[in-house]
Amino acid sequence: METFNINRNIAHLAILQRIELASPKLKKIRKLFGRYLFTKFFSKYFINVSNISNKYYDLMYTEFSSIKSYLKDNQKILSIGSGIGGLELLIYNNFKNSEINFIEKNYISKKIKYGWDDKNIEAYNDIHLLEKFLILNGVQKDKFDIYDFDKSVLPQKKFDLILSLYSLDFHYNFKIYQRYLKEISHDNTFIIFDTIRYEHFKKIFKEVIIIKEDKFTVHKSKRILCKFMK
Ligand SMILES: C[S@@+](CC[C@H](N)C(=O)[O-])C[C@H]1O[C@@H](n2cnc3c(N)ncnc32)[C@H](O)[C@@H]1O
Repeated sequence: METFNINRNIAHLAILQRIELASPKLKKIRKLFGRYLFTKFFSKYFINVSNISNKYYDLMYTEFSSIKSYLKDNQKILSIGSGIGGLELLIYNNFKNSEINFIEKNYISKKIKYGWDDKNIEAYNDIHLLEKFLILNGVQKDKFDIYDFDKSVLPQKKFDLILSLYSLDFHYNFKIYQRYLKEISHDNTFIIFDTIRYEHFKKIFKEVIIIKEDKFTVHKSKRILCKFMK
């Protein structure tokens, strides 16, 4: 069986970033004990690490399949809000010369609240654990750079592909990155992200294509590929 190499700390983050990995029992515990204890304790110690690893792998493989046709060798990729990086690891494994830059936040909110976050204060990652996950799974350190959204000067090169799954415009406003994304795009840059307001992006980009639809989830978002920012 294909899986990722992860430890408890990394599995903990995967659960927070992808709540669908939590078992029904763990979700019940969250309702019963509240968000603080769930975030701090239950989501870390009431899990089976290898089970989470298998489930996370399957989930990331499905995500990888949804974007695979837009990937090529030798691409410069920017990932915004990658989480622990399972999708990006699959990109490295399948497109060996990819160069990936990550922009993430480096803290876990005390009581994570999922949903729209206008102030963009919610975060659930640890940049050191993101780096650890990539290295534990065989990615060489010189193949990636990680930037802390709140502290670093963001990378200023041009990217071929910008990815943000269930992060940009799913949890916080696209506006936060809009000007920056224009600066780092060239004429053929693709930007892929999930949103519930697909129509809005027809005003911002000349081309917007729906590549996946989540019809049966609460949010009913669409994964869109955008080109040519106006
Ligand atoms: C729901 S998780 C999705 C993680 C991953 N993309 C996935 O599909 O599994 C959202 C991620 O966005 C990150 N995030 C929140 N605000 C951000 C920002 N301004 N820039 C980059 N990442 C951010 C969070 O820390 C979290 O890891």
